[in-house]
Amino acid sequence: MTADILKITDLSIHYDTPRGALKALRHVNVSVPRGKIVGVVGESGCGKSTLISTIIRLLANNAKVASGSIVFDDQDLLALSETQMRGLRGTDISMVFQDPMQTHNPVLTIGRQMTDIQYRDKSTTAEKRNRAADMLALVGIPDPVQRLDQFPHEFSGGMRQRIAIAMALMARPKLLIADEPTTALDATLEVQIIKRLHELQAEIGCSILFISHHLGVIAELCEEVVVMYAGEVVEQGSVRDVFHSPSHPYTKALLDCDPGHIKEKTRSLPTIPGEIPDLVNLPAGCAFAPRCSQVFDACRSNRPAWNECKPGHHALCHLAETETVS
Ligand SMILES: Nc1ncnc2c1ncn2[C@@H]1O[C@H](COP(=O)(O)OP(=O)(O)OP(=O)(O)O)[C@@H](O)[C@H]1O
Ligand SMILES: [Mg+2]
Repeated sequence: MTADILKITDLSIHYDTPRGALKALRHVNVSVPRGKIVGVVGESGCGKSTLISTIIRLLANNAKVASGSIVFDDQDLLALSETQMRGLRGTDISMVFQDPMQTHNPVLTIGRQMTDIQYRDKSTTAEKRNRAADMLALVGIPDPVQRLDQFPHEFSGGMRQRIAIAMALMARPKLLIADEPTTALDATLEVQIIKRLHELQAEIGCSILFISHHLGVIAELCEEVVVMYAGEVVEQGSVRDVFHSPSHPYTKALLDCDPGHIKEKTRSLPTIPGEIPDLVNLPAGCAFAPRCSQVFDACRSNRPAWNECKPGHHALCHLAETETVS
């Protein structure tokens, strides 16, 4: 048994567009160790959802795997048939999305949906209902037995998201993939859900791949963090190393824009000046160079290497080369 439940190596995904191939992911390496929580951060359009869709094989029709492999629990996911893949989704790999209505069927009661999800289980419907009620209680839904007979619209947004997490964890998956599950919620609820998710993860012992552009949430929940920019992983390491001593100027800029890091009160949140590059016509050299405050000549012409800042902490940046202590 390998140490990583998920190991993504050299993954490149291109979308076919009228203007040419849009390189949504380029040579991405991400590993999720068994029992650990790994966070992925990055601005809108950097490829977070593309990464997840590739893992669970729900990519758009115009997408093509240009290179790479995805090994989940010692199986090569890209080589599995659609039927084998369907067998994994919702059992060994569960998902939670930003909009819980994507998960819930509006015309079926929550109880019905939570018993249906246990279709592989041989126990009686009454036993499945009991298990569903227990799970609702575990995610903090009061009066769980009565609430099983209600429909999704009878719950608040925060409750629906907690139910989505309950449903994703019912199968006791080996890996939970969460794509911005708390982004649509208010801050207090977000904290509650993150806390609950942490407790459940510890209890079930699963691994989590958690996508968010909210750095505070990543810092709270995750042990490892992967920073993405324009389809590439630009920095990776422990949450402590990456957030306390960021190496890549992009990570520094992201942290400077985070509400949790802003000391003075401002009316509007700062954003990183400039825009992400055109992924059809990428610049030569470093993709972040046009926006980088520390840019120098080599950045515009040479691709940076994946440099080690310290053991377990890497950055795709020319500056990290000089920072390396040998
Ligand atoms: N089916 C598609 N065809 C063409 N381009 C696509 C397609 N899906 C996504 N893209 C492009 O791929 C890039 C990465 O998109 P993706 O949705 O993975 O980003 P993201 O990091 O999840 O963004 P967000 O934070 O907004 O959810 C973007 O430039 C996007 O416009
Ligand atoms: Mg997305």
